[in-house]
Amino acid sequence: MKLVKTKDGSYTAYNEVANEHYHTISGAIEEAFGKHVNALGIDNGMKILDFCFGLGYNSIAACKNHSNLQIIALENDIKIIEAMRNIEIPDILKTEFEPFKDIARSLNVTDGNNNKIQILLGDALRRIDELPEKSFDRVFFDPFSPKKQSEMWSESIFKKIYTKMKIGAKLSTYSCAKQIRKNMVSAGFKVIDGPIVGRKSPATIALKE
Ligand SMILES: C[S@@+](CC[C@H](N)C(=O)[O-])C[C@H]1O[C@@H](n2cnc3c(N)ncnc32)[C@H](O)[C@@H]1O
Repeated sequence: MKLVKTKDGSYTAYNEVANEHYHTISGAIEEAFGKHVNALGIDNGMKILDFCFGLGYNSIAACKNHSNLQIIALENDIKIIEAMRNIEIPDILKTEFEPFKDIARSLNVTDGNNNKIQILLGDALRRIDELPEKSFDRVFFDPFSPKKQSEMWSESIFKKIYTKMKIGAKLSTYSCAKQIRKNMVSAGFKVIDGPIVGRKSPATIALKE
């Protein structure tokens, strides 16, 4: 796995199978805050589903200035989680990242503010079935792109995620592709533009009303 420094000073990885970076190279941590955490808003005590944990930036950005979060993260590649041990983290997330950097060892870590991240290792398309219904307030949806991993962006996976979310819950993702938004709407979501971060087109926010 190749680590690449992005423009905000944080590292992303390059995946040679997907032939894709894990984040926009304009800034991996900027993307975590801009497209996910700040786009949705987080309150203490929320239950969050991190769909494709990677280097954990989305979950850990949510922990900044928050407490009592209960985060369930799905990820199938232990190597990317292990890479968290040795990456350099910019000041904006350094303190928050520290307690979680060895999460590959136990897959279950609670920080000093009682924010808990539990990783379910394996195929997210299957492990999602183990999660309780109507339980998540926020979902960070962050697989590789629809072109590279179309199975992750299907109507049926959005339907499953929808059932796991509470009424009033919100999902964020970086893609604004027409077909993806159509699949979200067919699954029951209301779809609105998310913020524009690191590229010309907006991200997407999907609401369970
Ligand atoms: C775009 S990256 C996620 C970046 C991540 N949110 C972060 O902040 O670092 C996509 C991630 O999805 C994971 N992945 C790909 N296919 C998967 C699957 N079927 N189940 C679970 N995780 C998967 C990859 O290993 C990779 O870490």
